[in-house]
Parts: sequence; C-alpha cells; structure tokens
Amino acid sequence: MGPGPISVDPRVLRAMAAPLVGQFDPFMTTTMNEVMALYRHVFATDNEQTFLVDGTARAGIEAALVSLIEPGDRVLVPVFGRFGHLLAEIAGRCGAEVHTIEVPWGEVVAPEQVEEAVLRLRPKVVACVQGDTSTTMCQPLDDIGRICAEHGALLYVDATASIGGNEFRTDDWQIDIATAGLQKCLGGPSGSAPITLSPRAVDVINGRRHVEAGLREIPGGEDSDTASGRVIASNYFDLAMVMDYWGPRRLNHHTEATSMLYAARECARLLVAEGIDDAVARHARHGAAMLTGVQGLGLGVFGDLAHKMHNVVAVGIPAQLGAVGGDAVRGRMLEDFGIEIGTSFGPLHGKVWRIGTMGFNARRDAVLTTLAALEQVLRAAGVAVPPGGGVTAALQSYAGAGA
Ligand SMILES: Cc1ncc(COP(=O)(O)O)c(C=O)c1O
Repeated sequence: MGPGPISVDPRVLRAMAAPLVGQFDPFMTTTMNEVMALYRHVFATDNEQTFLVDGTARAGIEAALVSLIEPGDRVLVPVFGRFGHLLAEIAGRCGAEVHTIEVPWGEVVAPEQVEEAVLRLRPKVVACVQGDTSTTMCQPLDDIGRICAEHGALLYVDATASIGGNEFRTDDWQIDIATAGLQKCLGGPSGSAPITLSPRAVDVINGRRHVEAGLREIPGGEDSDTASGRVIASNYFDLAMVMDYWGPRRLNHHTEATSMLYAARECARLLVAEGIDDAVARHARHGAAMLTGVQGLGLGVFGDLAHKMHNVVAVGIPAQLGAVGGDAVRGRMLEDFGIEIGTSFGPLHGKVWRIGTMGFNARRDAVLTTLAALEQVLRAAGVAVPPGGGVTAALQSYAGAGA
C-alpha cells in the first residue's frame, strides 16, 4: 500500500508467464500492434506513434527529452516536487538551458505562472509532471496545454504516477509527448514505459532521424530519408529509431522485452475492460475512503487536498514519534501485517508516510485492512487513536459514495 510499485495484478503476472517468441514472429508483431492500439485508449489519443520504451518510467522520460532536446534549447519545467526536479536534471543533461518555476511542496503551479514564463522565455519544450508522488499533488494540465499550443512550445508530460487513476487526456489537453510506467495505477511491474507522441513531436524527432550504419541498405551511404538535424545523443533512447522498430518498417533496434510487452498488454486490457472512467472513479472512491480513514484516526494530511491525486495520500507522522518512530511504525506494519506503506523524500522525509490506493490495491478490503492495522500499530507505539476511528470513517466514506 505504498506509492508504487504496488502489488501486481495476478492476471498480469499470469500473462508474463506466457512463452516467449522471436522478435519478428507474427505473434510478436501482432501483439506490438495490439499494444499500440490499447495504449491509444489509455492515453486518450489518436496518435499513431503510441508504443513502449523498454525500461522503467524514467526510461520513457529520458527517451522523450533526449529525442526532443538539442544542446542549447530552452526548456521550462514547473517544479512542485521531486519528479519536477528530475525532469529539470534530465533536461540539463541533454544540454538544455533549463528554467524552472518552483512552488512549495504541497501546491501546484498556476497557469498564469506558466503563461508568464512561456511569454518571457519562449521555450522549445515545457516539461511537466502530472501526478508527483513525492507530494501527492496532481497538476491540472488543460490550461498548460493550451498555453503551449498558443505559443509554439512542445508540451511533455510525465504521467507515470497518475495515469489510470486520474483523468488524463492527451489530445484534448494538447500534450505532445506523454510517458508512463506500469507500476502505479496500471497494476503492473516496473520495467516498461508506455509513450505517445503527437504528429508535431514526431516531425521534430524525425527531423533528427539517422539510421544506424549497419542497417543502411547502401553500405557507406545514408538511409534514403536521413534527416539533416543533429543526431540524437542516445542510441537506446533514440525515438526516431524506436518508431522505425514499432512501425511498419520494423527496422531492427533493441530486442523487445517480450515478458514486459505481455505485462503492458495485460495492464491495458484490464483497464480498457474495466472502462477508463470507471477505473478513475474506483481510484477516487478508494482514495477518498483512505483519506477519510486516516483523518478518522486523528492523523493530519499533507498538501492542498483540492489538488491531491486520487491514488496516494501523505499522512502526517505524529510529532511524538519523530522520524525514527515513523520508520518503526512502517516496520511493524510490514512485519505484523504484511502491509507496506511508503516513506517520503526531501523536505517531507520523516514528516509524512505515503499510503497508496492504486491499481490492484485500489480495493475496499485493502483500504479497511490497512486502516485497521495502522490503528493497532499506532496504539502500540503510544499514539492515542480513536478505537475503530479509521475503519468507521472509511466505511462512512464508502456509504456516502454509494459503495
Ligand atoms: C511521477 C514519477 N515519475 C517518474 C518516476 C520514476 O519511475 P521509475 O522508477 O519507474 O523509473 C516515478 C516513480 O515513482 C514517479 O512517481
């Protein structure tokens, strides 16, 4: 019950045990095409270029940024938690001139702040996190998309922690590249990064397309559609080459991670079968019950609740416990009840626990059992908690939601 990775859906684990096939086996290429179609639903997009980057969610981020950014490009990053800092750091490594808008942890960025910075800096790329698990905040993106489109900036969004559990609309919000991971609301293991690219982003990246020498049909020559733009600094994360691999040319690049392909396919199939709006509503319902439940135990909750992600809550560690006592509570939860809850980073370290209700764990029994266990562990640690306060409050939340 941490902020991800979470317990993998057993149906995804089963899919991963399927036999492997060669990378140009018709079953493999059919499955790749099926995954592309499924993730168009997940990202709410018509983008042809929707596929997987092999690696954890960070691989998707690196692929997007290194393929878009050339040294000296101006990049604007709204920072409202740890993962905004990560985007700024990766953009810096790509040689960008990085500018940030920082707000205190627990808040989100106002569209006016983004518009002012875009007008002043004229960035090529705006890179933004949707749900930052470090603070639990969910950044509204529709205005940011409109601002970027109006002023000619490309919008990249990291939706790793939020997609599947919070509304996400690539096309409606005019997002140029979005990336994700499986290990949060999609209920899978870490190790695959779904990505979608708008035609505008594809044009920019294909303007830097260079085929590897060993794949060119004229030895020593260039491929027929080699572009004049600067070569992308990473081979593995060169999205122009990865698109050639996933597209009808099937130009060889990496060896697709077959078990992760099966996992990604099953995650998306489960989500689409449930209905994406229904899955978001499920995360909202169980997230609200967990929030109400921890409040029913008399615990404080961090951040602007109007902008909290549905799938994770930052729970104040009672002052009497301190950071050491907070870790001891996490240890007891794990040892006595087999329930993992999360620690926190940076300025929140030692101040909050992060409790997730996402993917396979966005379930009533998981919420109620976690609250019951937390009550026992807190009482044993000397914290005065109302008997049954967490479970009762959560049940009331469910009753209010008609669940
Ligand atoms: C918002 C966000 N972005 C990126 C990441 C990095 O993901 P990974 O560890 O899969 O590379 C995480 C992981 O928690 C995250 O929450």
